[in-house]
Amino acid sequence: EKGTYPHFMLKEIDEQPFVMRRIIQEYQDDSERLKLDEDIRSAVKACDRIYIIAAGTSYHAGLIGKQFLEKMAGIPVEVHVASEFSYNMPLLSEKPLFVFISQSGETADSRSVLVKIKEMGHPALTITNVPGSTLSREANYTLHLHAGPEIAVASTKAYTAQIAVLAILAVDSARARGLELDFDLMQELAIVANAMEMLTDQKETMDELVRENLGITRNAFFIGRSTDYFVCLEGALKLKEISYIQAEGFAGGELKHGTIALIEEGTPVVALATQENVNDSIRSNVQEVVARGANDIIFSIQGLERDSDAFVVPHVHELLTPLVSAVPMQLLAYYAALHRDCDVDKPRNLAKSVTVE
Ligand code: F6R
Repeated sequence: EKGTYPHFMLKEIDEQPFVMRRIIQEYQDDSERLKLDEDIRSAVKACDRIYIIAAGTSYHAGLIGKQFLEKMAGIPVEVHVASEFSYNMPLLSEKPLFVFISQSGETADSRSVLVKIKEMGHPALTITNVPGSTLSREANYTLHLHAGPEIAVASTKAYTAQIAVLAILAVDSARARGLELDFDLMQELAIVANAMEMLTDQKETMDELVRENLGITRNAFFIGRSTDYFVCLEGALKLKEISYIQAEGFAGGELKHGTIALIEEGTPVVALATQENVNDSIRSNVQEVVARGANDIIFSIQGLERDSDAFVVPHVHELLTPLVSAVPMQLLAYYAALHRDCDVDKPRNLAKSVTVE
């Protein structure tokens, strides 16, 4: 039920701090270890490469998961769009582990990959919000997102839950492989939950920001580098699917290779700047688009902020910044759709779970 909320999407955005806390509760063990199934731990330990398969928002979460698994656990990861996988099946490693990320657990594109790789005899882990779902039943292992039912077509709390659970999988895999990590993930996730709460309290600011910057535009660009780039892909998807503003996410460094031709007087360019190592370079990309007339809307993070930034998210551990930068992106899309009188929870042409290929 929506309760006092005008839309499920807004309710689900607001639920994110609680989802983070529930994930901490569900996965935290008393000892140093995380409460991950021993079978999953063994499967990750035994594999020499992980193949993440997903669609849409879940694919975007997978891109961030790849970074966690490679940086923390040292496992090579490939991320594939489910619908493309069988056309260009990569040469598989000797001991692949397939990880399916799916909120609904019913996405037909992902399922057809699962059927194929099972025939080949490879193990599969499904990360899903619906444990009894098809992808969960048909895989060898399941990790539950614990996000609670997601009703709005646009995925919000499932996306951040996917990122958190992927971080847990990465940390657990690192430990299983005998690697030392210099941070306590559960403690950092608790900080994220508090930060998310501060962000969901700033709805009026986001509403105003949208009114000022996305009021009449037909298009918008999202730019970022490194992890911020992946969050930009998700920010753009969110905006286009519910507000019908044509929105695209780009890697900051790619602009000059073509996309910058589209920048006109007043074109909104949302830039994400939450990563220290790319802060200067993304800001110089912003200068390039502003010099061509763009209207820049910079989202940065405490510690890296500058006076001209439109919005500053609270500081969290560098690996976990997508969990906080996603929230203003979701609110941006929400208010843009609201201002345009769009059907926020049920955008045209879309279904909550896509059971056809
Ligand atoms: C976008 C959105 C979709 C889904 C995609 C995969 O907001 O919700 O892009 O992420 O259809 O769905 P699942 O995760 O259920 O496999």
